[in-house]
Amino acid sequence: MSKGPDMRVTIAGVELCSPVIAASGTFGYGIEFEDIVSINRIGAFVTKGLSREPMAGNPTPRIIETPAGMINAIGLQNMGVHPFIAEKLPKLQRMKDVVVIANVFGFTIEDCLEVIHALNDAPGIAMYELNASCPNTSHGGMVFGTDPELLNELVSRCKQASQRPLMVKLSPNVTSIAQMAKVAADAGADAVSLVNTFVSLAIDIETGKPRIANVTGGLSGPAIKPIAVRMVHEASKAVSIPVVGMGGIVRAEDAVEYMMAGATAVQVGTASYADPRAVENIANGLKRWCSSHNIAHVTSLTGSALL
Ligand SMILES: Cc1cc2nc3c(=O)[nH]c(=O)nc-3n(C[C@H](O)[C@H](O)[C@H](O)COP(=O)(O)O)c2cc1C
Repeated sequence: MSKGPDMRVTIAGVELCSPVIAASGTFGYGIEFEDIVSINRIGAFVTKGLSREPMAGNPTPRIIETPAGMINAIGLQNMGVHPFIAEKLPKLQRMKDVVVIANVFGFTIEDCLEVIHALNDAPGIAMYELNASCPNTSHGGMVFGTDPELLNELVSRCKQASQRPLMVKLSPNVTSIAQMAKVAADAGADAVSLVNTFVSLAIDIETGKPRIANVTGGLSGPAIKPIAVRMVHEASKAVSIPVVGMGGIVRAEDAVEYMMAGATAVQVGTASYADPRAVENIANGLKRWCSSHNIAHVTSLTGSALL
């Protein structure tokens, strides 16, 4: 009897049992999903963004539904890196074969370095994902990932500090994603992931007020998928490091599309809000899709579109 398709992929030396990963901010600290999802059967999960100090996030309303998507302005609420290491990580370590990717952010480069230094000393983390979509308060709030020089400085200093592979999560709110992917790769990134959410605005026309207290928020979900697939294609042409694609993946076929566009692996975010088992279902569905299309190794999908 055949063993079925080989679903393993490797990113920056880290082997995943499946290319399907749970995205940051949509899968808590992992343990909340322990009784719902077989976390060791998905490729990996990315933690909620971790900062130097705990953060309360933005005032509500901070999540709204939109046609084929959602806007969020959670404001990077999180418990902070030190409580994460003390309280959540030991529980994660007891869960066998779970690949943990720690998402890191800060409002200055020093903030990011401090988070990385703290995580370096902690066990049980496979990789870091550096969120470059944060405003840099030392540069008048310019978002790191929208300025090539700032991105270069952020990535090179974080890479120097990092004792684990560093994946850089790019902002899609740029003119040329290929340029930003190249900047990250040249600065030492071991992989890039994209996309984060698109800056967006929704207005309640009866009150004239913004529907999100923060005024603007980040758009995610199926509405952004065709733009994100295009960006993944452009980024993968520009760099030779692995590209991890995301944005609006809700079924296995979406994951196939991202991989054909050039992604080595994919992340699933908003879909987990509609169905907490979405990531596992997509991982299983991708395996079935490979079987039914006689694909022996899922890696052969990467960049296979005739573009
Ligand atoms: C509620 C919410 C919170 C998020 N929090 C984070 C975060 O803390 N760090 C980060 O890098 N991305 C965060 N993201 C972005 C997602 O990881 C992902 O890049 C984006 O939502 C696009 O994928 P999707 O369409 O599958 O959701 C968040 C997204 C949502 C919807």
